[in-house]
Amino acid sequence: MPKKVLVTGGAGFIGSHVVDKLIEKGYDVEVIDDLSTGRKENLPNNVKLKIKQVKDMDGSDVKNFDVIIHCAAQVSTFYSVDYPEEDFKRNALSTFHLFELCRKYNDNTLIVYTSSRSVHGDIPEPYIADESFPYNPSTFYNTHKIYGELLCKIYKELYGMKFVILRPSNVYGPRQPYWVGGWYNFIAYWINLALQNKPIPIYGKGTQIRDYTYVEDTARAYILAIENSKAIGEAFLLPTGRGVSLNELADLIIKLSGSNSVKQYLPPRKGDIQRFVGSYKKAKEILGWEPKVTLEEGLKKEIEWVKKDLKINYHTELQFHS
Ligand SMILES: NC(=O)c1ccc[n+]([C@@H]2O[C@H](COP(=O)([O-])OP(=O)(O)OC[C@H]3O[C@@H](n4cnc5c(N)ncnc54)[C@H](O)[C@@H]3O)[C@@H](O)[C@H]2O)c1
Repeated sequence: MPKKVLVTGGAGFIGSHVVDKLIEKGYDVEVIDDLSTGRKENLPNNVKLKIKQVKDMDGSDVKNFDVIIHCAAQVSTFYSVDYPEEDFKRNALSTFHLFELCRKYNDNTLIVYTSSRSVHGDIPEPYIADESFPYNPSTFYNTHKIYGELLCKIYKELYGMKFVILRPSNVYGPRQPYWVGGWYNFIAYWINLALQNKPIPIYGKGTQIRDYTYVEDTARAYILAIENSKAIGEAFLLPTGRGVSLNELADLIIKLSGSNSVKQYLPPRKGDIQRFVGSYKKAKEILGWEPKVTLEEGLKKEIEWVKKDLKINYHTELQFHS
C-alpha cells in the first residue's frame, strides 16, 4: 500500500511542487487548500483537493495519513506587519489547530512543518547562518513561524509526536504567484513588471541580501525528509549559500527577460531583513540534499513560465479573507 500523505497548502507554489514529487514517487496524496493564493490548476487531476481553511479542518481530515506536510500559510512578512491579527490566525492559530487535531486523531503521523529561514533574522557579514543560529524575528510572520517550531518541540516532548522542520530560503520558480502585487513572492512580480518594461520597485537601497533557492530543489527536500528516519526531530535550513543583493537580482531579471525596465527606489519597509545567507551543510549531511539549479538557470525557467501563464489568464490582485 502506498503511504498516504496530506499536504496543506498543496495547491500553492511550493506545495504543488511537493505534490508533483510525491506523485512521481507513488504516494497517495490528498490536498487541503482554501485557494486564497493557490490554484486548482497547479494540481494533477488524480489528486483529491478539499477546499477549506486549516482552521475549519476536523478529525476526519487528518485521520489515516502516514505523513502530513503543512505548507498552508499567509506567506508575506510585510503583509504581517500591516495585518498582524490576520497573520496570527492564518499562521500561529491554524498551525496550533492542525497539531491539536493530529494529537487527538492521528498522533502517530509524521508532520513536516514548513518554517522559514527568516526565523534567524539578520545575518551580518561575514556570517553564514546554520540551524544553531538563534531566533531573531523582525516581523509577526517570522514570530509566528517560531511559534510553530516551538509547538513542534512541545508536542514532541509531551506526546512523543514526530516532526521535521524545514526552513526554506527565498524560493522562486514556476507557479510563483506573480499577480500578488508586491506583497510577497516578489521575484515573480518583478518578472511580470520586467516583461511589460515597467519600473521594478525596490524598498530601500537594494543592498539587502537574500539567498534564493529554486522551487524544485526546495520541494525535493520534503521527499528526502519523509523518507529518512534520521530527519525526525530535526530542523533543516534549505538555502544555497550564495548571497545576492536585490539590486543584482533586479539587474539579472531585466537582462534575462530582455527588458527596458529601470529600478525604482521606494522608502524602506519596516521589518526588512538586511542580509541572509545560509548553509545547507546539515541538510546535505543528514538528508543528502543540496541545491542543483543556479539562480540564472532558475530565473530563465521562471521567466518562461510567467510569459506562458500571462497568455492564459490570472491578472487579478490577491484578496485575503479570514
Ligand atoms: N516562498 C518562499 O520564499 C518561502 C520561504 C520560506 C517559507 N515559506 C513557507 O512555505 C509555505 C508555502 O509558501 P508558498 O511560497 O508556496 O506560498 P503560497 O501562497 O503559494 O502557498 C500557500 C498555500 O496555502 C493556501 N492557504 C493559505 N492559507 C491557508 C489556510 N489558512 N488554509 C488553507 N489553505 C491556505 C494558499 O491558497 C496557497 O495555496 C508557507 O508556509 C510559507 O510560509 C515560503
